[in-house]
Amino acid sequence: MSRASQRSSGGSGGSPDVLVVGGGLIGLVTAWRAAGRGLSVTVVDPEPGGGAARVAAGMLAAVTELHHGEQTLLALNLESARRYPDFAAELTEATGHDLGYRRCGTLAVALDTDDRAHLRELHALQQRSGLSSQWLSGRECRRLEPLLAPGVRGGLRVDGDHQIDPRRLAAALLVACERAGVVFHRAWAERLTLAGDRATGVLTGGGTALTAGQVVLAAGSASGRLAGVPEDVLPPVRPVKGQVVRLTVPRRYAPFLSRTVRAVVRGSHVYLVPRENGELVLGATSEELGWDTTVTAGGVYELLRDAHELVPGITELPLTETLAGLRPGSPDNAPLLGPTGLPGLLLATGHYRNGVLLTPVTGDAMADVLTTGELPPEALPFRPRRFGAHALSEQPA
Ligand code: GLY
Repeated sequence: MSRASQRSSGGSGGSPDVLVVGGGLIGLVTAWRAAGRGLSVTVVDPEPGGGAARVAAGMLAAVTELHHGEQTLLALNLESARRYPDFAAELTEATGHDLGYRRCGTLAVALDTDDRAHLRELHALQQRSGLSSQWLSGRECRRLEPLLAPGVRGGLRVDGDHQIDPRRLAAALLVACERAGVVFHRAWAERLTLAGDRATGVLTGGGTALTAGQVVLAAGSASGRLAGVPEDVLPPVRPVKGQVVRLTVPRRYAPFLSRTVRAVVRGSHVYLVPRENGELVLGATSEELGWDTTVTAGGVYELLRDAHELVPGITELPLTETLAGLRPGSPDNAPLLGPTGLPGLLLATGHYRNGVLLTPVTGDAMADVLTTGELPPEALPFRPRRFGAHALSEQPA
């Protein structure tokens, strides 16, 4: 037995109160917030702080990523965006880490008549939803961002959609967890273990049995395939591949862009996220290809082609990294939070395009439900039971 697993005996009977399966942003924030409420917590993950946080651009885009039919999710996204400043300040205070939280706003632009019609519709939807955004002419867009292509025909200025660096966020959450006494067990969770009709823990790839009072499945896109989870509570989560390119803006070109710039080009979303440290993240493809994380020539080509149409100067920049990750997609694009039909098993997964944005509100909601058994009101629409058999079978954790 490893030292980590020996130390994971904070709760009654030698087990911690909570075992979090998955050490991505959602698992880490759940662990940190639960530990902050006095629970003993173990996280099981071979590489905590890895996963989708390594790939994500980190847009906090509740307003520019609004989609028809996602008004319920919008409320949660806005609530999490509202909590971000305090959350980031608290995490920085706890760790001394700079999270790259940049309150820079976003400009969504249109390159042709179809794109402009699409953006006008988004603007109308934002207005109907009471959100703040401002329509700009092409010239006004270029005044804000001089490197935009001359062909830009208009855009939406959204001053409330910011960004954070997900890698820094994950690194800070790891440190915060360690300082709060969270124990890390660096292994794969191979199988959920049960005693009667209750989840009791997991068996790891190394053959260690980890047990806990409550188990939180927060394994991102892998949450839907943990062995041992009964079929009727297995989260309906699937992997949606996203390829991302990272460029570096040499100091002599700064400031290259002063805010996030995005567009829909020929039906595909493309965004350019400029970090203060000179990194420029271009994203992202959206591909339903199962567990494939290959970076393809076609994916990189399309991202560079579309980004080049928006900001031609990107071709001058050094290309420093290409990566692909997996978003945890759910049937309604919204997360699954809270108890399942299996006592002792809770979910914090299915965050799809909004994992980074939803990190603060998810941590708070999961800490609430782990300590009181109740989700806070803002998280109630996201109970797993809204899907299929879950609707009939939710039990108290
Ligand atoms: N939220 C950005 C993406 O999923 O690509």
